[in-house]
Amino acid sequence: MQQAQQIAQAKRLLHYLDTRTTATEPEPYHQPTAEYTCPDHAGKEQRLLFREGPLCIGASAQIRNPGDYFTDDMTGVPILVARGRDGIARAFLNVCRHRGAKVADGCGSSRSFVCPYHAWNYGLDGALVGRPEEYGFEGLDREHYGLTELWCEERDGNIWVCPTPGKTYSVDNILGVEMNAEMAAYQFGDYHHYETKHLTRQMNWKVCVDTFLESYHFPVLHRNSIAPIIHGNLNTADQIGSTVRMLGARRTLADLQNRPESEWDDVLRHLVGVYILFPNVVWTWQLDHIEIWHIYPSQADPVNQCTMRISFYTPEPAVTEKAKGHWDRNFALLMKTVEEEDFELSEQIQQGFHSGAQNEIVFGRNEPCLHYFHRTVTERVAAGV
Ligand code: FES
Ligand SMILES: [Fe+2]
Repeated sequence: MQQAQQIAQAKRLLHYLDTRTTATEPEPYHQPTAEYTCPDHAGKEQRLLFREGPLCIGASAQIRNPGDYFTDDMTGVPILVARGRDGIARAFLNVCRHRGAKVADGCGSSRSFVCPYHAWNYGLDGALVGRPEEYGFEGLDREHYGLTELWCEERDGNIWVCPTPGKTYSVDNILGVEMNAEMAAYQFGDYHHYETKHLTRQMNWKVCVDTFLESYHFPVLHRNSIAPIIHGNLNTADQIGSTVRMLGARRTLADLQNRPESEWDDVLRHLVGVYILFPNVVWTWQLDHIEIWHIYPSQADPVNQCTMRISFYTPEPAVTEKAKGHWDRNFALLMKTVEEEDFELSEQIQQGFHSGAQNEIVFGRNEPCLHYFHRTVTERVAAGV
């Protein structure tokens, strides 16, 4: 977020603090529970959002150098993302063009990808550069047997991919001018990967996203964890294109009022920035680092189960024991709060949806980000594009 924007947002939050209010919508929002429980709806989401749509699939920090790569199966499609010798990040289907084995596994650094089945060898740009017993494939030109490339764009530290071959997008259009400028200001491209954790929980993927979209629950559910650090029921709420932005306030925010605005050069230290990079990425600025949640409907049970990857990025590489201790404590607090408090309760919510207690739940006027996120999901599924 640019400096002028930071100051404007801090003033909004200070106003809410002074008036004991928060961002609101004119009316509460009625959300059908069927969208959390219906297999048909889940199937449409999987196809439209997670298969055919653009997804922020990872971070530049995961493939910092030429030859670095990572694989990702969370969409249900095996994907390989690699940085070429030319520095360009490319995505491919992680499927050998001989008989279909995965050519890469996990993440790492490599000069090329050698299929573990019969050793067809692919360059970092996906080209088939060698295959044993070449005479066996006479007449089948190597140039037609490269890995299938996917649309991939790297922008400001985020890597966007569409899992469907032939579908192309543009981050210019996905985020729009305003949000691209705002993301660029975080300089996430210069960050370093610290840790990643994978989780599977028994809830619809949207229940998981919902957890991050209001601060109304902080003083209750998180009274002993983050409520002493971050204000409850106090946040901005905006939708900029398809991106939902929720800025919360750390309890230090009021300190800004002791200084003239011209000296507000550390506003970000007082904010918590939550961005939903639609549909499934919760991109979070926290004090001195960035946490990113990639949340997917699970392949085994897309209605009632989600899988997620939580990654923690730091502005400097953590080399000293002191730095590692600092980030470990941060990561532990995050995971403890979310896993033991939010997700325990979220799993109960998913069970409750199936109980027949109600056909809809309500998002209050003071929970606008939930309105924005769900309205967008509902509209996209209804439009079928
Ligand atoms: S399946 Fe990859 S080399 Fe045969
Ligand atoms: Fe929470």
